[in-house]
Amino acid sequence: MKPILVIYGTTEGHTRKIAEFIAERLRKAGKTVDLVDSATPAAEQIVPIYAGAFIGGSLHQGKHQSALAHFVKANAAWLNAIPTAFFSVSLSMAGKDEEWRAEAKRLADEFLADAGLNAGMVRLVAGALKYTEYDFLKRWIMKSIAQKAGGSTDTSRDTEYTDWDDVARFVDEYLAATRGEERKVA
Ligand SMILES: Cc1cc2nc3c(=O)[nH]c(=O)nc-3n(C[C@H](O)[C@H](O)[C@H](O)COP(=O)(O)O)c2cc1C
Repeated sequence: MKPILVIYGTTEGHTRKIAEFIAERLRKAGKTVDLVDSATPAAEQIVPIYAGAFIGGSLHQGKHQSALAHFVKANAAWLNAIPTAFFSVSLSMAGKDEEWRAEAKRLADEFLADAGLNAGMVRLVAGALKYTEYDFLKRWIMKSIAQKAGGSTDTSRDTEYTDWDDVARFVDEYLAATRGEERKVA
C-alpha cells in the first residue's frame, strides 16, 4: 500500500503537534505515514510515491510559512493527481468573530490559489497562544491580535484552542472519502 504524506510548516511548533496527531490517527487506521517538516532538507527529498497527502501551515501576520508554499508550488503537479487535505492553523479561528474567521478562510484560499493546489478538503483549525515562549515583541503582537480575535490576553500562561475532536473528524472524513481511491491506487 502506498504511504500518505503529512507535510507541515510551523513557526512555534503547534502545527507540528497537529501534524503529529494527524499522522498518529492515520497510522492507527493502518496507513503508512511519512511526516515531514517543510523547512527541513527531508522536504527536498520527497518523491511522488504517495497515495494521498495532508498539507498544513499556520498564519503569521497574514501568511503561511514560505517553505510550505515553496514545497507545494514545486510539487503541485503530482499533488493535484492524488487526494489532498489542507489545514490552516490560526488564532483567527479561536474566537467567534465572523470577520476574523472569514479572513482565515480567505488567507487559506489565497495560499491554495498562489501555490496552485486543488485541495479536496480544507480545514481551518484554531491554534495556540504560547505567551511564555514568545519574546517581548511577539508577546506584544499576540496580545493585540488576541484582544481583537477574542483570545486570551493573560500573558502569564499559554492557551491551546485546538479542537482535537474536530481534527480527528477531519482525518476520518478524509479516510472515508478516499476509501475508493485507495483501492484504485493500491
Ligand atoms: C508573531 C505572530 C503572528 C501571528 N499572526 C497571525 C495572523 O496574522 N492571523 C492569525 O489568525 N493568527 C496569527 N498568529 C497566531 C498563530 O497562527 C497561532 O499561534 C498558531 O498556533 C501558530 O502555529 P505554529 O506554532 O505552528 O507556528 C500569529 C502568531 C504569532 C506568534
